Amino acid sequence: MLGSLVLILTVAILFLAGSLIVLSMKYKKLKNLQRKKKNTLRGIIKTINSVRYGNLYERVNDEAFQVFPNLSRSVNSMIESIVDREDMIKEYQNDLNKKIDALKEIEQLKEDFVATLTHDLKVPILAEKNMLNFLLDNKFGELSDRQKEALIHLKNSNKELVELVEIILETYKLNETKIELHKENIDINRTLEETIDQMRPIADTDSISLNYWSEFYNRINADEFYLKRVLKNLILNAISFSSPQSKVDIALCNDDQNIYIKITNYGKTIKPQELKYVFDKYYTTAKKFRKVGTGLGLYLSNRIVKAHGGEITIESKGDDSQAFTTFVVVLPQN
Ligand SMILES: Nc1ncnc2c1ncn2[C@@H]1O[C@H](COP(=O)(O)OP(=O)(O)OP(=O)(O)O)[C@@H](O)[C@H]1O
Ligand SMILES: [Mg+2]
Repeated sequence: MLGSLVLILTVAILFLAGSLIVLSMKYKKLKNLQRKKKNTLRGIIKTINSVRYGNLYERVNDEAFQVFPNLSRSVNSMIESIVDREDMIKEYQNDLNKKIDALKEIEQLKEDFVATLTHDLKVPILAEKNMLNFLLDNKFGELSDRQKEALIHLKNSNKELVELVEIILETYKLNETKIELHKENIDINRTLEETIDQMRPIADTDSISLNYWSEFYNRINADEFYLKRVLKNLILNAISFSSPQSKVDIALCNDDQNIYIKITNYGKTIKPQELKYVFDKYYTTAKKFRKVGTGLGLYLSNRIVKAHGGEITIESKGDDSQAFTTFVVVLPQN
């Protein structure tokens, strides 16, 4: 009896021990598998990150395929499609660059064509000017008052044409080269007065008065030729965009660092959304007012003032009779 009990117990113990060994082996295997899965996942994440940073040659390896076949296939095909897209983008980029180059070439051809044309136009226009002067000086016989009046009109339009052609040519010249300033110690009040006097006949035609104030009497370092071009452009704009029979105020003042030349006209304003375009090359609203304009005046003026280390600022507001536009040329005192 005892003998058979001991036998049963021994068998039970052996069975238990055997089960334990099998269980612990299974547990070990499971743990290994888990570790393997974890490492494989880590590897896949590493591949994804490597692709994210631009290494498009990276792929999920064969080992990972054995552990996560579906995931590995998806990741690899995702990388393939990224590579395809990258190639497509590169192709588009090449295409785009070629198109940009072609456009640049066309633009250059257009600019050269306009520059040559403008230059060639200048000759007959100047010849016409000389001929008109001869006629007005009675070199071809005495003229009646009506004939003279007609010729004076012709001379004015001829003058406008000369100015237009000159401004276009000047722009091409300045486009090709950097603006080279010849700065001198100039009497800015005198420069302003001389320019205003030159502009007076044009203002008189529209019955616009030009007023000038100054609170600054020192000299400044600037290129007088270029500065006069800026002032002429700004005053001409002020006259052109003024209400008839109004006025243009021109003031000179300063603070510790800068001088400020303020040119104000009344009537038309520049809309806030248009302000950012007025210095662009060829931006003009002149045609709206049945005037001739190249849209180069402010573009050139801005470049000249910047070459001096300054800037042009604009304030334009109000409506109807209260409306005003002020262009301020800010120039460093030195
Ligand atoms: N004083 C001003 N008052 C109102 N609008 C102005 C004034 N000055 C310039 N503008 C606006 O800015 C635009 C650009 O001026 P810009 O001097 O460059 O060209 P433009 O006068 O039209 O032509 P151009 O100077 O070649 O004869 C003008 O067409 C106008 O719309
Ligand atoms: Mg202008």
